[in-house]
Amino acid sequence: MRILILFASLLAIVPNSVLASVLAIDYGADYIKASLMKPGVPFDVLLNKDSKRKIQSSVAFKRGDRLFGQDAAYLATRFPSDTFSHLKYLTAAPIDSDPVKYFTKISAVDVKPSSRSTTNVTRSDGTEWSSEELVAMQLAYIKHLGELVAGEKVRDVIITVPAYYTQFERDAVADAVEISGLRLLALINDGTAIAVNYAMSRTFAKPEIHVIYDVGASGIRATVAEFSTNTDAKTGATGNQITTLGYGYDRTVGGIEIDRRLREILADAFNTKHKGKDIRKDKRGMAKLWKEAQRVKMILSANNEAMSQVESLAWDLDFKSKVKRSTLEAACADLEPKFTQPLYDALASAGLELSNITTVILAGGASRTPMIQNAVKQAVPADQISFNVNADEAAVLGAALHGASISRQFKTKNIKITDILVHDVQASYFAASSTPNSRPRSISTTLFPAGSKVGTKKTMTFKRKDDFIINFDYKKEPVPGFPTRMLEVEIAGVADALTNLTDSGAIDPVIKATVTLSESGFISVSNAFAYGEIKDDSLTGKLKGLFGGSSSNEESDSTEDIPPRNTVSASASATSSSSSDAATPSESAASDKDEKKKEKEKKKVTGPVEIPLTVTPQFTTIPPMSVEQKKAARDRLRAVDAEENAKSRREEARNTFESYLYRLRDLISDEDKDKPFKKCSQASEREAIEKLLEESFEWLNDRGDLAETSQLLNKRIALETLEKPIIHRYQEIEAFPQALNNSQMWNWHTRMFLTDARQNITEEAKLDLPSKWTKEELDGLEKSLREHEAWLSEWVEKQKSVKSNEDPVIETREMKARAKVLEQHLQRLYNRKVPKSVKKKKVVVEEKKNESKVEQEGEEEEPLQYDGEEQVPLGEGEARPHDEL
Ligand SMILES: *[C@@H]1O[C@H](CO)[C@@H](O)[C@H](O)[C@H]1NC(C)=O
Ligand SMILES: *[C@@H]1O[C@H](CO)[C@@H](O)[C@H](O)[C@H]1NC(C)=O
Ligand SMILES: *[C@@H]1O[C@H](CO)[C@@H](O)[C@H](O)[C@H]1NC(C)=O
Ligand SMILES: *[C@@H]1O[C@H](CO)[C@@H](O)[C@H](O)[C@H]1NC(C)=O
Ligand SMILES: *[C@@H]1O[C@H](CO)[C@@H](O)[C@H](O)[C@H]1NC(C)=O
Ligand SMILES: *[C@@H]1O[C@H](CO)[C@@H](O)[C@H](O)[C@H]1NC(C)=O
Repeated sequence: MRILILFASLLAIVPNSVLASVLAIDYGADYIKASLMKPGVPFDVLLNKDSKRKIQSSVAFKRGDRLFGQDAAYLATRFPSDTFSHLKYLTAAPIDSDPVKYFTKISAVDVKPSSRSTTNVTRSDGTEWSSEELVAMQLAYIKHLGELVAGEKVRDVIITVPAYYTQFERDAVADAVEISGLRLLALINDGTAIAVNYAMSRTFAKPEIHVIYDVGASGIRATVAEFSTNTDAKTGATGNQITTLGYGYDRTVGGIEIDRRLREILADAFNTKHKGKDIRKDKRGMAKLWKEAQRVKMILSANNEAMSQVESLAWDLDFKSKVKRSTLEAACADLEPKFTQPLYDALASAGLELSNITTVILAGGASRTPMIQNAVKQAVPADQISFNVNADEAAVLGAALHGASISRQFKTKNIKITDILVHDVQASYFAASSTPNSRPRSISTTLFPAGSKVGTKKTMTFKRKDDFIINFDYKKEPVPGFPTRMLEVEIAGVADALTNLTDSGAIDPVIKATVTLSESGFISVSNAFAYGEIKDDSLTGKLKGLFGGSSSNEESDSTEDIPPRNTVSASASATSSSSSDAATPSESAASDKDEKKKEKEKKKVTGPVEIPLTVTPQFTTIPPMSVEQKKAARDRLRAVDAEENAKSRREEARNTFESYLYRLRDLISDEDKDKPFKKCSQASEREAIEKLLEESFEWLNDRGDLAETSQLLNKRIALETLEKPIIHRYQEIEAFPQALNNSQMWNWHTRMFLTDARQNITEEAKLDLPSKWTKEELDGLEKSLREHEAWLSEWVEKQKSVKSNEDPVIETREMKARAKVLEQHLQRLYNRKVPKSVKKKKVVVEEKKNESKVEQEGEEEEPLQYDGEEQVPLGEGEARPHDEL
C-alpha cells in the first residue's frame, strides 16, 4: 500500500508512444524477486501463484512435470538429483573454480564440464543442461507471471547482478535472458539498484555519502554511493544523482553459507546418534536437512535455541536434536571478520573513512541474521546504521525504476546513475618488431582501472603495418578458478587501408580502436579504423608528433545503455582521445617520405581520413554462447514447453472423456421412461452404447495413463456417434412446434397480403393509378404459397405417425428453409414502392422483358424495413409484417 501511494507520482505515461511493460528481475542464489512497470498497473513486486513476494530460484523435474519456486525446492527431498537450486553459483563458472566446488557441497546435482569451459548439470534421465538453460526456464516462468499481471506480452527486462560479476558472468546472464525469450534492456549492479530505491522518495539538501551494505544469500556487497539533488539550470527541474565511489565484496559468505554450516551441525548430530550411519551419503536425507537448517536458522534468529525435528530423515529413522544459537555462532566464528571486511574494502576503494559516511544502509535477506547485524554494529556506530530500505525488495524495485527510465517509454522520477567498474582491466598486444630478427615485445596498459566509469569509450592508437590482436585481461584472477583473459580482438585489413591512406597523401597514418565499457559493464571493441591526415604543410611537424608519443587515456561520455556485447559496429564514432603508446617507432615510415611528398602534391584532398577495419572478437577462455547455441537452447526450451502443453492437453482429453463416460452411464442406467434419452432411443441403440461404454471404461482404466490425446478423442467420438441420433431426435421433437408455427405464420401473412394487394390493384386499375405489383407477380406469389402449404400439410401429416424413438421424416431445418423462401418472396413484393405514374409503363415493360432486372430494382429499395418503424430483421420476433398488413 505504501509503495503504491509513493510511486503513483513517479510513473507517468509519455503520450503518443506505444507502451510496453518493463520487467525487473533480481535473480538471487536463493530467491528471485521480480517487478513489473506498466502504466495503470500498481508498481509492486510480482507475486507468484501462491501470492508469495519472493520466489525460490529453483526448477525441478518430476516425470513429465516441471516445477518452479517453492514447489521445485520442496521436491529436492524426493528427487534431489532432479532439483536445481542455487544455480547462481554455476554462472559461467569453470568446473574447477571455487563457485562450482562450493555448489557441489550444497547440491546433490551432478556436474560436468561443458564444451564452453563452463559447467553443465545432469538430470537423472542422463540429459545435460547448461545453467543458462535452467536459469532461462526460470526467467521464462517469471516472464509468464509478468504477462498475467500486464495482460500482454512482456519482452523488456532489466536484471540485477552483483557489481563484482565478471564479463563472463554478465554474458551468461545475458545469454539466459535471450534464451528465455526476453530482451535485455540492461544489467544493473544490485547495490546501485538499492541506491536508486533509496533515492526514489528522497531529496538531498546537500550531497550525502552512504554505504549500501547488501548481505545476500551468496555474497556480501558493499557499495559506497554519493547522493545529491540537482536542479537543471535551464528547466528548473530537479533530479537525483547517484555516483558510486567504491565497492567491496566477499563472494564466499552469505545466508547460504550459514545454512550450510547449520546443516553440518545437524548432520553431525545425526551421525553421532546413529553410529555407523553417515547421513552425508544420503542425498534425500541431506536435502531434508537443508530444508530443516533453513527453518531452524529462522527460529534461532529470534530464540536462543530451537528444536530440530525431521520425521523419517533416512533409513526410516526420525531425527530430533536441540540446537543452540551459540553453537551456530561458534561454528561461524571464522566468518565474523568477513561479515564486515567488504565495508572497509569499499571505503578504502572510495578513499573514504567511516566518518565521511552518513549511514550504512543494511539490505539483503541475510542482513537480518543476528550474527551479521552484531558484526556490523561492532564496526559501525549505532546512529550510522540505517534500515531505511526494504531488505528483500529494494534492489528489484530500484532496478524496475531504472529499467523504466532507460526504456524511455515512461516518464519516471529523474535519477541519474554514474556507476563504476570493480575489476582492473588491461589491454595488451605484441608490438611490431623494429627489426626483422628482434623478438616481439608485449605491451600492456591498464585500460580501464577499477573505478573507471561505465558507459564510456576509450580510443587506443597504434602504429601498425599489419593485422594484429588486442587482448583484454583482468589484471588479477577475478574469482578463484576463473581465467583472466576476457577477450581477444583481431584488427584486420590494416595493410590495405594504410596503403590507400598513403596513396592519398596521408602522412604517418595510424590505427585507432575504440573500446567501449558499456553501462551494463561489458567491454568490447566497437570499431577500429586506419586514420591519417592529409595536409599541405611540411612533414617535419607530423614526424615529431609521431616519434614523440604520448600515453594519456581520455574518457568520453556515452549515452549507450544497451549492452553492446562484443558486437562489432562499423560506424566510426569520433572520440577525442588517444592512448597512443609509441612502442612501435617505425623506421620505414621515414624511408619513403619523398614518395609521399609527391603523392601529397598530386592530390588536393586535405583533412582527416578514416578507413574502417575489420574487428573480430575471439573468446579463448569462457566464450559466451554463440547464436547457434542460443538458438538450440531456445528450441530445447520450446520443446519442453511443447511437451508440457501436449501433456496438459492429454490430461484434459482424458478428463473430458472420463466425465463423458460417467454422464453416459447415468443416462443409460436411468430407468425413468419419460427421460428424453430413454424416450428417444431404441433398445438396440442403448445396448450398443452400453457395450461400447463398458469397453471404454475398461480401456481407460487399463491404458488411459499412456493414451495419446488423439486416441482419447477418437474413443469419445465413437461413443458420441452412437449417441448422436438419439440426441437429434430429441432436439427435433423440441424444435418441431416452433418450426411449424413459423411455417404456418408465413402462410398466413402471405395469404393476408395477397387478399389485400389484389383488392388494391383492382381499385387502382379502376382509377388508372399506378400499382406496385402486376397481377402476374401476385399470381406468382400465390403459387409459391400453395406449394408451401401443400408440402407442409403432407409432411406434417406423415410426421404425426413417427414415434419418438424413430428418426423424424421431416427436418425442422428444412421447414425453416422452405418458410424462408416464401418469406423472401413476400418481402420482395411487400417492400415495393409505388412507382411514379410517368414511369409506370416503362417499368411494366421492363418487368416483362427481364424479370431479374425488376427483382434488382426491388432490392434497391430498402429491404426488410417498414416505413416509419425501427428496422427489425424479420423472422421469429414480434415485429413481423402481419402487424402492419
Ligand atoms: C552441456 O550442455 C549444453 C547445453 O545443453 C550441451 O549442448 C552440451 O552438449 C553439454 N555437454 C558438453 C560437454 O558441453
Ligand atoms: C573524510 O574524513 C576525514 C577525517 O574525518 C577528512 O579528513 C576528509 O577530508 C574526509 N573526506 C571527505 C571526502 O569528506
Ligand atoms: C583501397 O582502395 C581500393 C581502390 O580504390 C579499393 O578497392 C579498396 O577497397 C580500398 N581498401 C580499403 C581497405 O579501403
Ligand atoms: C406461435 O407463435 C405466436 C407468436 O409468436 C405465439 O403467440 C403462439 O403461441 C405460437 N404457437 C405455438 C404453437 O408455438
Ligand atoms: C392497400 O391500400 C391501403 C389503402 O391505401 C393501404 O393502407 C394498404 O397498405 C394497401 N395494401 C397493401 C398490401 O399494400
Ligand atoms: C436480364 O437481366 C440480366 C441480369 O441483370 C442481364 O444479364 C440480361 O442481359 C438481361 N436481359 C435482358 C433481355 O435485358
